Amino acid sequence: MIFSDPPYFLSNGGTQMKDVWHLPAIARWEKSCGKHPTQKPLALLTRIILSSTRKGAWILDPFTGSSTTGIAANLVNRKFLGIDREEDFLTISRNRKLEIEDTHILDTYKKKLGGFDTKNQLELFLAKEPEIEYERSLNFDSK
Ligand SMILES: C[S@@+](CC[C@H](N)C(=O)[O-])C[C@H]1O[C@@H](n2cnc3c(N)ncnc32)[C@H](O)[C@@H]1O
Repeated sequence: MIFSDPPYFLSNGGTQMKDVWHLPAIARWEKSCGKHPTQKPLALLTRIILSSTRKGAWILDPFTGSSTTGIAANLVNRKFLGIDREEDFLTISRNRKLEIEDTHILDTYKKKLGGFDTKNQLELFLAKEPEIEYERSLNFDSK
């Protein structure tokens, strides 16, 4: 994972980040494709992703459940790979992914995400976020 400076609106305005985050609980629309017993709020995963990755990053969740991490990743222009041993959870994950391929639903979900100061704060940030060139190979040469 590549860590970068978190977006200003997630960094507590330049002062030390608070260790308790106040975010909305899961709303009904987040369960539109079915329920997972430990599903997390999209606002929480979005905040974690924006705090620790840059645009275009790959994110892996090897215990993906209903793939809230993946949906959050895709909502903020990151790529995602999820793995789970339960087919039912993968079906929910696939349906959630298909749902946000509809750009109207994608935009609606971005607007519904809680945890931002204003309704369009996330949209404005994503529009300005720079494109990053990622290394495509690892070099283990010790010289
Ligand atoms: C606690 S849930 C976490 C779901 C999701 N990452 C989240 O944060 O909401 C753990 C998931 O891991 C899956 N799981 C457990 N053992 C696994 C294994 N050996 N291989 C793949 N998936 C596994 C379960 O089916 C379950 O959906």
